[in-house]
Amino acid sequence: MEVVPQRDSGHEPIPEHVAIIMDGNGRWASKRSLQRLRGHEQGAEAVREAVRGCGDLGIRYLTLFAFSSENWSRPVEEINHLMGLFRYFFNKEINALSEAGVKVNFIGNINRLPEDIQSLVEEIKLRTQHNSKLILTIALSYGSQSEIAGAMRQIAEKVEAGELAARDICEEVIARHLETADLPDPDLLIRTSGEKRLSNFLLWQCAYTEFVFLDTLWPDFRKDDLIAAVREYGSRNRRFGAV
Ligand code: FPP
Repeated sequence: MEVVPQRDSGHEPIPEHVAIIMDGNGRWASKRSLQRLRGHEQGAEAVREAVRGCGDLGIRYLTLFAFSSENWSRPVEEINHLMGLFRYFFNKEINALSEAGVKVNFIGNINRLPEDIQSLVEEIKLRTQHNSKLILTIALSYGSQSEIAGAMRQIAEKVEAGELAARDICEEVIARHLETADLPDPDLLIRTSGEKRLSNFLLWQCAYTEFVFLDTLWPDFRKDDLIAAVREYGSRNRRFGAV
């Protein structure tokens, strides 16, 4: 997977951090009378496209919602297939990602995943830790409310231990205890498939994020869709609550 940064792509403002809710794999498959699993397989191809596209456009951070904490309630066969896809994708792409200068991070309840995938996650993090061309964060078994609750628990423990005063708890302290502490907040969030919800993804971090909803089903997502979303982002007037 080759990532060639071309941040200077015209005069559009390029978002620093793009987050994507990859939705519509099942519908893509149903439209073709295929099993849902085939939709997820094509979805993995679209992930490659998104990573390459972000590299080409000079986007520094890409965060992908690959599996939510709520997705554990899907049929066991679908969960197993998705786990198989993650296994295959991580094994197959680890070299390419590493050589392309991509640093891969994970957020979510990784300890709920099968043990071999947990090991793969550790290996990918280790292999790519010194890269910096593109910071790819994969949300796996992730739920934003649970992430916020975890941060609150850590903060409460520090208060109990006398390491932190309750009056010092502020937005920055909370942000530093989230799993995304090392990432800037997303500038642009894209959701495919026409659904217009956040679905428990980066609730805290998206306070001032621009949302772009595309009708494209995730397996059909191509670089042109990314460019269209970035253009739409460029046309927005971001005021961050000011006038
Ligand atoms: C949502 O579509 C998609 C998912 C729950 C899985 C996302 C996974 C991939 C794109 C596979 C590969 C990912 C990586 C990181 C290798 P849906 O099944 O909810 O679609 P529907 O709403 O049409 O049913």
